[in-house]
Amino acid sequence: MSRKARMFNKKASDPKNRPDLVLNHLELQAGNIVADIGSGGGYFSLRFAEALGKDGVVFAVDTNPGFLEFIKENAREKGLDNVKTVLTSEDSLSLPENVDLVFMRNVCHHIPNRTAYFGELKNFLKEGGHIAILEYRKANHFTFHGLFGHYIPKEEILTEMTQAGFQLEKDLDFLPEQSFTIFSIKLPKKRPDYTRSHI
Ligand SMILES: C[S@@+](CC[C@H](N)C(=O)[O-])C[C@H]1O[C@@H](n2cnc3c(N)ncnc32)[C@H](O)[C@@H]1O
Repeated sequence: MSRKARMFNKKASDPKNRPDLVLNHLELQAGNIVADIGSGGGYFSLRFAEALGKDGVVFAVDTNPGFLEFIKENAREKGLDNVKTVLTSEDSLSLPENVDLVFMRNVCHHIPNRTAYFGELKNFLKEGGHIAILEYRKANHFTFHGLFGHYIPKEEILTEMTQAGFQLEKDLDFLPEQSFTIFSIKLPKKRPDYTRSHI
C-alpha cells in the first residue's frame, strides 16, 4: 500500500507537474480549512498543512484506509498536527461546514454521479469558498490513464460544475497532462431595485 502512496507522491511532486505553481494559484491563507478529496499519498495534504499553519486544518479524505494511515504517519514525522484523516465511501461524504477550499487532484474520474456529488460539496463550503479540480485531459490511449479511461475532458467538468451550481473562476493551462480549473459557488443574480430607480 505504501508503495502505491509513494508512487502517487512521486508523481505529484515531480517538477514537471509544477506543484509550487499549483499551490500559488490556490491562494491559501494561514488559518484556512482545506479538504483534499482523494488525498492518495498526501503530498498535497502535507504541503497544505505547512502553508496553513497551526490555526489551519487539512482534511485528507480518501476511500482507502491504508493511504490515510500513510498520511497520518508522515504528518506525525514532520510534526504537522493540523492534518485530520477522513475515511469516506463512494456515496457518502462528511465534512465540517466551513471549508475554504476543496481540492480534487486526479480523483474526479473515480466518482460515479459527479454532478450530484459536486452539488453536495456546496454544503461544506464557506461563503466565498472554492473548489479546485485537476484532472487528466483526453489522453493518449497508450498511457495508463488513457487506456483505462482515467480522465475527464475539461468541457465535461465545466458542464457538470455549472449544473451543480458553480461558476468558473480560473482556467489554467500550464500543466502537461491535466486541466486545472477553480470554481466558486454561483450566487443568484441581484434583482434590480425598482423602488429606488423610479423615485
Ligand atoms: C489517482 S489517486 C490521486 C491521489 C492524489 N490526489 C494525487 O494527486 O496524488 C486517486 C485517489 O482517490 C481515491 N478515491 C477514489 N474514489 C474516491 C472517492 N469516491 N472519494 C474519495 N477518494 C477517492 C483513491 O483511493 C486514491 O487515493
